Amino acid sequence: PEDVRVYEFAEACGKSASEVITVLFSLGMMVTKNDFLKQDELEILGEEFGIEVTVKDALEDVNYVEDFNEEIDKSNFVTRPPVVTIMGHVDHGKTSLLDKIRSAKVAKGEAGGITQHISAYTVEQNGKKITFVDTPGHAAFSEMRSRGASVTDIIIIVVAADDGVKPQTEEVIAHAKASGCPIIVAMNKMDKETANPDMVKSQMAEKEMLPIDWGGDIEFIGVSAHTGDGIDDLLENILIQAEMLELQADPSSKAKATVVEATLEKGRGPVATVIVQSGTLRVGDNIVSDTTYGRVKAITNDMGQPVKELGLSETGNVLGLNDIPTSGSVMVVQDSEKEARDIATTRAEHARAKELSKSTKVSLEEMSGLI
Ligand code: GTP
Ligand code: MG
Repeated sequence: PEDVRVYEFAEACGKSASEVITVLFSLGMMVTKNDFLKQDELEILGEEFGIEVTVKDALEDVNYVEDFNEEIDKSNFVTRPPVVTIMGHVDHGKTSLLDKIRSAKVAKGEAGGITQHISAYTVEQNGKKITFVDTPGHAAFSEMRSRGASVTDIIIIVVAADDGVKPQTEEVIAHAKASGCPIIVAMNKMDKETANPDMVKSQMAEKEMLPIDWGGDIEFIGVSAHTGDGIDDLLENILIQAEMLELQADPSSKAKATVVEATLEKGRGPVATVIVQSGTLRVGDNIVSDTTYGRVKAITNDMGQPVKELGLSETGNVLGLNDIPTSGSVMVVQDSEKEARDIATTRAEHARAKELSKSTKVSLEEMSGLI
């Protein structure tokens, strides 16, 4: 998608380039009319202008932007659960909090207690579903955090109340602001004697994250992943935010899901953890994701149980791809296996061509350096 320039996009949807620039600017993204638009920027613009933006994947077919003006058929829309991404500095308790929320012991089994992979779970609060995405706080995983941000509706920034704002907290604040998602701050470890919520609030306020009780618009909720205090409050708040967002999608359309994680598992082959964004993903569906394709052989839900399908905003593992897709890529259902394979093959060829042109460029530059 790095092939659409701002003015081209504006032209295609009948807006002026400055309108497009203004929208992005108001969300903290600086572009000029000749800049290429990124996927998230395109999505934001689509939402702002109320149009569906379908960009043929850059790998699939460069220079093609289609369907800018296609009306979205909303007749089958239903409310979908929110996707909530948990972010924060390393060891501030993201996994523990999620763990407490779903009452399973995820943190304990992890190597060294550090979340190595992004993971997702769906939980229920008062009969309403919420899908959570966990992200690692370690500095090295900044890319995973930005990926997490791209599927999310609401962002929870976890700050340990005894430790306050730290470097990755600041990075997360920047991601969260750029995403335009509502933010909730969970001040964790409130059970500790050294917990100091006022310190957290004032440090966050310095980063322009002003708490509601200080006249701002961000909810700060004290929680403890150890005792469970504040968690109901947090979940209720998420549901309130979700209601305001009026999240909707069509469960009957061809499924589109985001791959949050993918691995090769012994005896199972490539396994992709996905979150369904629209439609319903079913066993037997022909799928393409990135340069991989296949037919859904089996789906397990977030509890590891086999299921026949995944609905809106639900998460689970999908088996049946011929290879491991890139995390963050979109999985789309196709009418036939041939279609899925053709798209994947074209993308793979394109990726190879790009790689090749990159290496030729480098060697030419190297050569000119020698001359
Ligand atoms: P990364 O994934 O490595 O970024 O860490 P994380 O944010 O997921 O933190 P994790 O849940 O692994 O917790 C880090 C440490 O803080 C563990 O030793 C937890 O037991 C402890 N911890 C987490 N939440 C609480 C809490 O509410 N109170 C107290 N006292 N300790 C907590
Ligand atoms: Mg963790």
